[in-house]
Amino acid sequence: MSSNPARYSKGMIVIHWLSALLVFGAWLTSTGGRHMAENPPLLHFSLGLAVLLLVLPRLVLRVAGGVPEVVQPGGWLAVAARFGHAVFYLFLICLPLSGWYAASRLGVPVSFFGIPLPAIAERVQGAPGPVAELHENAGTIILYLAGLHAAIAVWHQFKLRDGTLQRMSLR
Ligand code: HEM
Ligand code: HEM
Repeated sequence: MSSNPARYSKGMIVIHWLSALLVFGAWLTSTGGRHMAENPPLLHFSLGLAVLLLVLPRLVLRVAGGVPEVVQPGGWLAVAARFGHAVFYLFLICLPLSGWYAASRLGVPVSFFGIPLPAIAERVQGAPGPVAELHENAGTIILYLAGLHAAIAVWHQFKLRDGTLQRMSLR
């Protein structure tokens, strides 16, 4: 339970910023599939899988009361925020899983910071298919969404002056 109901709990805040950094890191370390087998982007896999790993405690903390009351309950802004955050969760789960699937289709062994993981799909010859394409596109779309999300947060903070940034700050 959050000690200050006006803010997200400390755990939620740490996971939020850590996940944002990991998504950015995964994007920076991403590469196309053609020569992946010779030189697998292991850091890309590890950073991306860490994003997936953090979703579980994040959801547990949500259920445990780590989320404050929305800024304007009942209004359209609250509905839009809920929808936007749900879309992020969809990306945070589907993006790493589709990447793992793509790597498996390409026959590239996946590991998480040195821990080998099994393939989750049959290896194919040639193009890895639509899920891999979806992964590549979604991997960039999430960055645009993060930019939009950050711009909305800044608008809340400086135009609506509702202290939104404080809700996601440790101090
Ligand atoms: C938040 C997490 C992730 C983001 C933002 C992300 C982003 C991206 C992007 C932008 C690309 C396209 C790169 C290019 O074409 O130059 C890509 C490709 C790829 N990623 Fe990820 N990725 C994530 C997680 C993962 C994970 C967890 C894995 C595997 C365990 C993975 C495996 C792959 C593979 C195999 C490709 C090449 C796909 C192909 O060429 O068809 N990704 N990723
Ligand atoms: C890939 C990057 C990001 C993702 C995936 C993301 C995701 C989320 C999600 C899902 C929430 C809802 C609370 C939760 O369940 O944790 C949230 C809230 C929030 N985010 Fe982000 N975020 C990202 C980057 C950023 C950035 C760059 C900013 C900078 C301004 C930011 C500012 C905030 C703020 C202020 C809230 C609280 C909103 C409220 O008052 O309810 N986020 N974010």
